[in-house]
Amino acid sequence: MAHVGEYSIRRCEAGDIPAVIQINMTTLPEHYTDSFYYDILNEFPETFLVAELNGEVVGYVMNRIEYGFSYLRRLGLARRGHIVSIAVKDGHRGKGLGTALMLTSHGEIARKSATECYLEVRVSNESAMRLYEKLGYKKTGSLEAYYRDGEAAFVMATRIAQ
Ligand SMILES: CC(C)(COP(=O)(O)OP(=O)(O)OC[C@H]1O[C@@H](n2cnc3c(N)ncnc32)[C@H](O)[C@@H]1OP(=O)(O)O)[C@@H](O)C(=O)NCCC(=O)NCCS
Repeated sequence: MAHVGEYSIRRCEAGDIPAVIQINMTTLPEHYTDSFYYDILNEFPETFLVAELNGEVVGYVMNRIEYGFSYLRRLGLARRGHIVSIAVKDGHRGKGLGTALMLTSHGEIARKSATECYLEVRVSNESAMRLYEKLGYKKTGSLEAYYRDGEAAFVMATRIAQ
């Protein structure tokens, strides 16, 4: 699908899910049930991607395709990609994998006829926000006490090319 140096960006397979869960558990405070990952993979296999190095999964992005109010146009409905979760293992960050996972998923999401992409991010997660801003995301709103520990989220959205 794509390469970043020695790393490959490819579709996630069911056998990758335990490694994806492990990365999520060690890098993010938001955890999900095992079945949540398998359900997203079953429903949206084209847009669930992993970064791999020598057979080891070191990063992932999982997405949904939704239909709802546009985050970018007033009063319009849109087919939207929702970046549900993205993480790269410590030790593999800063090498462009987060960027490549996002850009590759934008391409796959656009192929599913979505015109925009959005995500929620902790208001304190500056390195993630810097990545999203670099990719054209703008803050479109905030959600008070979105996370279980009470932290607020920014909603960020960008148009994606068809
Ligand atoms: C956010 C995350 C996925 C980025 O992955 P990555 O592979 O490091 O991303 P990249 O190497 O493509 O870097 C993309 C941009 O992020 C920013 N960035 C990456 N690492 C950073 C760091 N340690 N400090 C500050 N900014 C950083 C930079 O702006 C960088 O762009 P640049 O290289 O052009 O300057 C990764 O840091 C991560 O897994 N974080 C923990 C999980 C998380 O917070 N997920 C997001 C939840 S919304």
